[in-house]
Amino acid sequence: MCGIVAYMGNKDAYPIIIKGLQRLEYRGYDSAGVVLYDGQDVHLSKTKGKVEDLKNKAEASINTVGKLGLGHTRWATHGIPNDINSHPHYSNSGDLVIIHNGIIENYETLKKALQERGYVFESDTDTEVLVNLIEEVKKKEGVKLGKAVQIALNQVVGAYAIAVFDKTKPDEIVVAKLGSPLAIGIGEDEYFIASDASPFIEFTNNAVYLEDEEMAIVRRGKEIKLRKIKDDAIAYPTIQELQLNIEEIEKGGYDHFMLKEIYEQPRAIMDTYRGRLRTEQGIIKMAGIDQNLDKFLNANRIIIVACGTSWHAGLVAEYTFEDLARIPVEVEYASEFRYRNPVITENDVLIAISQSGETADTLAAIKMAKEKGAFVFGVCNVVGSSIARETHAGAYTHAGPEIGVASTKAFTTQITILTMIALKLAKEKGVFSESRFHEYLTELEAIPPKVEKALESNVLIEQIAEVYKDSANCLYLGRGYNFPVALEGALKLKEISYIHAEGYPAAEMKHGPIALIDDQMPVVVIATRKGHYEKVISNIQEIKSRHGKIIAVVFEGDEMVQALADHVIEVPETIEPLSPLLTTIPLQLLSYHIALMRGCNVDQPRNLAKSVTVE
Ligand code: AGP
Repeated sequence: MCGIVAYMGNKDAYPIIIKGLQRLEYRGYDSAGVVLYDGQDVHLSKTKGKVEDLKNKAEASINTVGKLGLGHTRWATHGIPNDINSHPHYSNSGDLVIIHNGIIENYETLKKALQERGYVFESDTDTEVLVNLIEEVKKKEGVKLGKAVQIALNQVVGAYAIAVFDKTKPDEIVVAKLGSPLAIGIGEDEYFIASDASPFIEFTNNAVYLEDEEMAIVRRGKEIKLRKIKDDAIAYPTIQELQLNIEEIEKGGYDHFMLKEIYEQPRAIMDTYRGRLRTEQGIIKMAGIDQNLDKFLNANRIIIVACGTSWHAGLVAEYTFEDLARIPVEVEYASEFRYRNPVITENDVLIAISQSGETADTLAAIKMAKEKGAFVFGVCNVVGSSIARETHAGAYTHAGPEIGVASTKAFTTQITILTMIALKLAKEKGVFSESRFHEYLTELEAIPPKVEKALESNVLIEQIAEVYKDSANCLYLGRGYNFPVALEGALKLKEISYIHAEGYPAAEMKHGPIALIDDQMPVVVIATRKGHYEKVISNIQEIKSRHGKIIAVVFEGDEMVQALADHVIEVPETIEPLSPLLTTIPLQLLSYHIALMRGCNVDQPRNLAKSVTVE
């Protein structure tokens, strides 16, 4: 995700744009830029880093006067975060300037064609391709900017929210939307354009939210002209009067970033597999794997290193890689692995998992593995992060910035990436038939709506949280693919509610932990109908007979566990290897509600940091 802001009116654009970008930094913060039209010419400043860095650079280097301008804060998808890849981007002539939030999936094809016709590119971004495509259409067809944008966007595959203007005609801004949000704030003789209302809510409550495949010509002193991109049909703007305040909006209307990020998971999982999971064609396309397939197929073993939640995602991957692709895997805490003098050879593949891409222990483990000759692959959420740059290859989760310290969408998108890799290798190794491969692709594609369904239990889960919010301890049990989910659920609870919680393989209870069971001990049991269902039922009965309280996570329609548990939370059924993507959802919500009821700071729990960049 990125944040876009534009202004055209009778005030100075610069302060409005900078403050607007600061309010949108939750959408992305690896680089930022601003362009202003001062009545004569355009002045642009952009930089890697946060909006504060942009402010310092712009005020020291350009004329920040002007009543028209664009601003952008980036969460990189194509091209690492650096000055050149930051937005805004000029067209080759320097007349057009654009900002963009989204992904142009066919940008390489478009770029190649433009290069063949003499266009040159400074950056690695898809956005610079788009602004030059618009320029080429404008020149070739001899049409106005709005028409050129419309023709160009009909050649584009992907998602976008764009704002573009022509410095030779600085009384209009053209905007368009598909898949990424775009709002137009309507003031007195002034227009605001932004990814959400937070940049303009203090100036006006009147806003038009563009629908997908709509574009608008926003002209100084005129009514907004709305069009359908596909067929130029006229659309009529619905002006909404917003009843919002700033604080709410930055969190998208949620009370906390963590809750927002829990609810973003259907979109985040979809964004992570978009362009990679091609069910109709029966393929999974991942450049980092495709270009290094031999290393994975000939590997002696795969070593997974990570910390915390990312380590739990690695544990899920251990089950997936061994069960589906028949490749030996070992999962290591990065902090232990880096110091225990492990045996590593050039026949090993190491997968490093890290949301932030900055975790010191994981980074150190990568460097050690590289020195010993292993091939190192990264799974990160932040483009251009240290780990992303240190590894030989990698695949980004497209979860969007994760602000809450407790990882939620990072976990499910990491599992999505790792499952796609395991499926791809299972197919390449001939372990999977075409039909079995297609079955898995189809089911993975069906996960986002199932996550939506799992989120519908939120009210029930809040009621359960009320019962156990004062517990001193809590146990989490799971088997097979859901053992790592039990560990993750326990981590979520302890790190934001400060209740002591432990996760165990369900069968391990008999080897000690069952001594803890009494009528004060809530036990969360993941008891999906896949895997060792009957054995989990026995574990539940062992706990019941010692008066433990059972909170069970089951597949929809379960009856056996319903008869035994004190509380049952249903999630939609899926195949066992994908069940962690659904069973983790109730555990995230349970920890969120309990922490809230205990008055804890859900987004910034005590003693923690979002990224542990020290040992
Ligand atoms: C999880 O909720 C915690 N925030 C923490 O365990 C985190 O997963 C761990 O520090 C690893 O962070 P990374 O994924 O950014 O490397």
